[in-house]
Amino acid sequence: MRFTWTISVAATAASTYALDAVAAAAGAGLVASGLLAGLDQSWVLAMLVGSYLTWAVGLGVNLRANGRLLAATGTSTNVLSKAAYEMARRRGRSPRLPAAVAYAATEVAKELPYYAAAFGAAAATDTITTTDALIFLAGANLGAALYEYGLARLTTAVLRRRRYASFDTDWDPARYLADYYRTVEPDEIVTIAFLVDALRHAERDQPVLFFGVGPTMHHVFAAAERASEIHLGDYLPANLAEIRRWIDGEPGAHDWRPFIRHTLRCETGREPTEAEVANRADLTRAKITRLVRVDAGDPRPVDQRYATVVSAYCADSATDDPATWRRFMRNITGLVRPGGLFVTAALHRCRGYTVGGRLFPSANVGEDDLRAVLRPAFDPHVEVRATGQDTTHGYAAVLLAWGLSVGPAEVVERSVARAQAPVGAARDRAADEGLGTFERRPEVVPLGQMGGGGRRE
Ligand SMILES: C[S@@+](CC[C@H](N)C(=O)[O-])C[C@H]1O[C@@H](n2cnc3c(N)ncnc32)[C@H](O)[C@@H]1O
Repeated sequence: MRFTWTISVAATAASTYALDAVAAAAGAGLVASGLLAGLDQSWVLAMLVGSYLTWAVGLGVNLRANGRLLAATGTSTNVLSKAAYEMARRRGRSPRLPAAVAYAATEVAKELPYYAAAFGAAAATDTITTTDALIFLAGANLGAALYEYGLARLTTAVLRRRRYASFDTDWDPARYLADYYRTVEPDEIVTIAFLVDALRHAERDQPVLFFGVGPTMHHVFAAAERASEIHLGDYLPANLAEIRRWIDGEPGAHDWRPFIRHTLRCETGREPTEAEVANRADLTRAKITRLVRVDAGDPRPVDQRYATVVSAYCADSATDDPATWRRFMRNITGLVRPGGLFVTAALHRCRGYTVGGRLFPSANVGEDDLRAVLRPAFDPHVEVRATGQDTTHGYAAVLLAWGLSVGPAEVVERSVARAQAPVGAARDRAADEGLGTFERRPEVVPLGQMGGGGRRE
């Protein structure tokens, strides 16, 4: 995030200088060329109006390019536009219009020095006439139009060279379901089995949050029996709309029955009947009480904390940047209340996964990275499971982890102990620790203060 701000500030400075240079040179050049010297002032005024229209067209093209740039990369060539974009996103509003308004307002404000310079010079000296000032402004506008159009072309070229697709502009929920969830593939066979086991550590009759659930339901069935209610969060409204279609039983909604069957097999060790599968689907529908838009980049992505949070293939599959992954993980795990359970899954050592032929990023996370991001706020139990899907999906293994959040005093104690212990000793001990050591503690830490850990290639 800080990185996108730095880039935006630098791009704003560079583009402001470039605009200044192009517009001033075009204005001065038009006056010096003498092309419009003999024109009547009313024709010069008409020319000025035409130059504004040309500039507006160029600005419109650049505003659209800037919107795509913000959506795809979080950066902008106008830092105020980025600020407006981020603010609207945080408030849950559509960010494109505020971003465009802020951009356009800044470009209009940049006109003022030209007026001051042109008419100031006309007032100060007899050698520069009001007509010269108007010609200068017309030339500066044409230069600005050229600049806006050029910047839009440059932005589009940068976006084309990007390695990764963007969730904001390229994600297709239907393609994702078609590419990954026609059948229960090896990664989900192990993930669901792991989830079923991990959720045995969840406190019963409490709300459970699934963070970064995508358009999918396959992990949710495992929590239906224990949860008092289920909250499903994702970054994209289109994903939540896909889930809503399943909840409402709309024709064409995805068929999750094979995944329910596998979940029940993992729970009971036997083949479930069709009635049992239908019952689990009904129970799950009944328990879902909230579909919420979440952003792992937000330090408080949801307005409450949970006894159980599940976030599978979200933080690691949302970025290729390990620092951003760690920050996402911290924001997501901050939603677990002390003593609560966090369950997660990530693609193992993966740099990207394809959806509908587009490459989405992955943070290239390993076992130690996951352990480190969960400690010291959790006692993590981490597994690497081979799936052999390198030829079909581009990853050969998945990382699975669950952990109980420890209270703040215990976090400090463990940090000190870890600093004193020989390297690796604390890790080995935590891997061996089970539920027997767990005690529920009162909730004393405000939302977002607990450390800890926050997508899929
Ligand atoms: C690979 S999908 C995983 C979906 C689902 N958990 C699964 O296992 O199939 C990655 C998900 O991360 C979500 N995502 C991307 N950026 C996010 C962000 N900043 N905050 C929260 N979720 C995000 C995407 O919308 C997408 O649903």
